[in-house]
Amino acid sequence: MHENIKKAAHIICQSKQTLALTGAGISVESGIPDFRSPGGLWERFDPIEYGTIEAFRAEPEKVWLMLQEVSVLLDRARPNPAHTGLGQLEKMGVLHCIITQNIDNLHQEGGATNVIEYHGNPKTLSCLWCSQRYSADELKGDGPPKCSCGKILKPDVVFFGEPIPIKALQESHELASSCEALLVLGTSAEVTPANTIPRMAKIAGATIIEINVTPTVLTNYVTDIFLQGKASEVVTELVQEVESMMAQHEKKRLCRDPGKRS
Ligand code: APR
Repeated sequence: MHENIKKAAHIICQSKQTLALTGAGISVESGIPDFRSPGGLWERFDPIEYGTIEAFRAEPEKVWLMLQEVSVLLDRARPNPAHTGLGQLEKMGVLHCIITQNIDNLHQEGGATNVIEYHGNPKTLSCLWCSQRYSADELKGDGPPKCSCGKILKPDVVFFGEPIPIKALQESHELASSCEALLVLGTSAEVTPANTIPRMAKIAGATIIEINVTPTVLTNYVTDIFLQGKASEVVTELVQEVESMMAQHEKKRLCRDPGKRS
């Protein structure tokens, strides 16, 4: 495993543009269950009845039963070492952007500034009928939040059957088509179009580094380096390796031209 961590760290140090694609697995250690693992959200809530836009339009009160439970988990959650580790890689200048399928804001709380929220963010709510938009914090209370028109509001997250926000889609796909390395963390890669991003990067010649507790549909298909383990542990080791490689590189550079301190 450590040899693979070294290989991955070397790729990241060499790469002029590295992206990360993250899924629910990166936030499991922050107390938010993922969707498809045993004990995951879709085991408890049928995604057809709770996760589609049709379901929300037909029975918003019912869907809000799930959304309320999720929002309690999101409020309690704090970034774990995988989130803060990616924030560190960004600060070191070796991670260009994070494309996340998550709606938990933990990348930003973990110090990352360049984050594309591919599936939206629940901090705002919209009325599907009159298009008014609200801040979720202002409408926190018992029961589903309502618009001034009387309709139940929907959080600005992407339900099955809804399009990806156009800006997020375009930016992500453009970056994926020009990156040199892609970290894929904690996603089963079963949901499209997010799961097309690794393929796009691969076609662009990028090295795909996958981190997951278990192999996925990507592992034998596009992944070049598979780092099996918990995101917080693997990312911590990876950051340490990148840091030491960059320090060695700097030392060598200084030996070469002592006058030129960076
Ligand atoms: N560290 C690393 N990987 C983990 C960990 C962990 N601690 N815990 C779980 N995983 C892995 C699982 O093995 C699984 O492959 O994370 C993955 C989570 O997969 P899903 O539950 O399918 O979540 P995700 O891929 O993010 O789902 C994509 O589907 O339901 C929709 O909109 C929702 O954004 C979500 C999308």
